Amino acid sequence: MPGTHISAVVLTVVLKIFALQTQALLAPMRTAVQFLIILLGTGVTAACPEKCFCYSTLVDCRHIALQNIPPDVSPGTETLFLDGNSLVRIPRNAFGNLGNMSYLGLSSNRLLLRNYTFEPLLKLQALDLSANHLLQLQETLLENLSNLTWLNLASNNLQRFPPMMSLAKLTYLDLSNNELIVFQETFKHLPQLDTVFLNNNQLKALPATGFDQLFLLKVLDLSNNDLSSLPSRFFNKHRKLTDLRLDHNKLRNLTATLFSHLDDLQYLTISGNAPVNFPPELFSNLTKLLKLDLSSNSLTFLPKNFLSNLQQLQVLKLSDNFIGNLVADIFKCNPKLVYLHLDSNNLRTLPVFEGLQQLEELTLSFNRLVEFPKEFGDNLVKLQCLQVNDNLIRQWDSEGFQNVSSVILSNNPICLNRGHAARVESTNIECTKKHC
Ligand SMILES: *[C@@H]1O[C@H](CO)[C@@H](O)[C@H](O)[C@H]1NC(C)=O
Ligand SMILES: *[C@@H]1O[C@H](CO)[C@@H](O)[C@H](O)[C@H]1NC(C)=O
Ligand SMILES: *[C@@H]1O[C@H](CO)[C@@H](O)[C@H](O)[C@H]1NC(C)=O
Ligand SMILES: *[C@@H]1O[C@H](CO)[C@@H](O)[C@H](O)[C@H]1NC(C)=O
Ligand SMILES: *[C@@H]1O[C@H](CO)[C@@H](O)[C@H](O)[C@H]1NC(C)=O
Ligand SMILES: *[C@@H]1O[C@H](CO)[C@@H](O)[C@H](O)[C@H]1NC(C)=O
Ligand SMILES: *[C@@H]1O[C@H](CO)[C@@H](O)[C@H](O)[C@H]1NC(C)=O
Repeated sequence: MPGTHISAVVLTVVLKIFALQTQALLAPMRTAVQFLIILLGTGVTAACPEKCFCYSTLVDCRHIALQNIPPDVSPGTETLFLDGNSLVRIPRNAFGNLGNMSYLGLSSNRLLLRNYTFEPLLKLQALDLSANHLLQLQETLLENLSNLTWLNLASNNLQRFPPMMSLAKLTYLDLSNNELIVFQETFKHLPQLDTVFLNNNQLKALPATGFDQLFLLKVLDLSNNDLSSLPSRFFNKHRKLTDLRLDHNKLRNLTATLFSHLDDLQYLTISGNAPVNFPPELFSNLTKLLKLDLSSNSLTFLPKNFLSNLQQLQVLKLSDNFIGNLVADIFKCNPKLVYLHLDSNNLRTLPVFEGLQQLEELTLSFNRLVEFPKEFGDNLVKLQCLQVNDNLIRQWDSEGFQNVSSVILSNNPICLNRGHAARVESTNIECTKKHC
């Protein structure tokens, strides 16, 4: 029936796009597609391995306790899910007749791989090997897979990632949650990479020029490693970088010009590196930055003009530092700020913030604030959520805060300033917005 044929093609295309886009969407998507197919009640191909689910060029053999690759996967298969089984080895010819495959999912097995396993899969575009027991990769393992664009090796036991000469089209590489310690110049041969996850490893240092070929890099996650410094020109070639995560390392000194070429950067996290020595001009060229997380870095003050070029900034997290004082115009040039987190610092007084007309959420909990300056709320016309719990506030003048839908004032020795002073032990107004 032509109708059935068309929906089969559409479904396969949709599934492929999803397979190549995000992993997170895969499972629900497939379930939804399976459900749809059951509703359609047709289109199931003739040969399908036992316990698997087949539709058009897709074969789904997930979570059925397989110990071996089924021998009867149809030769025209383009998408094969073998995730969540008990596969340990893949015999050399297992994929011998599957030359049309474009997606292969092998995550959550117990694989220890030898070289040449994937030899026949010349059209493969995406390979998921995450959550296996891989200890090392042979340089030849992915030889000739020159069409591969998406490779997930997360959550294995890899100590090394060898140079993969043939993966010239690779754009996405996930090596997170492994045991990588050093990094040779292995990215030289992967010039198309735009997304690299190296978080949750044990990297102590990065090669000075090892990432230089990655002109197209957009997302780089180096968080949760042991990095104590970064080569001063490390990011000079990455002009397309939009998302950089450096949190939870041991970074101390950062070169003033470290980020000066990152014209497109939108998200930067450097939290949890305490104590960091921030040069005052470190962020001066990040004019497109939307989100900056500097929490838990033992910052004691914000240098003048530290943030003054961040005119697009919407989210600023400075929680869990030792900031004792803020100058009045510190946020004057950040008129787009929506979320400002200053909780868990040493603030005793606050200036009247200038310019924060878009601010919706301000957290000041766990400081030593005694009072708010008189016109504090007047500029903050959009403020909806104010957290001031666990301070030393004695007086609360709610004038100027009429539009604020949630004020958390618990654990303050507060007297409501409304005619007769009534001592309030704690007010537990919950913040109504998420992401507080
Ligand atoms: C592999 O794909 C090609 C091109 O789409 C097609 O002509 C061929 O029949 C497919 N092979 C199998 C075994 O289905
Ligand atoms: C392939 O793996 C085997 C076993 O690990 C090894 O002896 C052989 O040298 C490897 N071949 C290449 C070309 O790496
Ligand atoms: C890769 O391709 C080269 C050249 O076509 C060939 O000599 C080599 O055997 C291939 N390697 C594998 C693992 O298929
Ligand atoms: C990559 O895929 C294209 C299109 O599917 C195909 O023509 C080409 O032969 C593949 N590359 C290799 C090395 O097989
Ligand atoms: C950081 O810089 C300070 C002063 O410039 C220097 O004394 C210190 O040794 C540097 N620390 C590291 C880890 O490079
Ligand atoms: C910012 O970029 C300009 C040119 O784009 C450059 O001249 C300047 O040195 C950079 N500033 C910093 C602090 O790196
Ligand atoms: C409260 O909201 C109204 C209407 O949006 C606005 O006119 C007024 O200035 C706001 N008051 C304060 C103190 O922000």
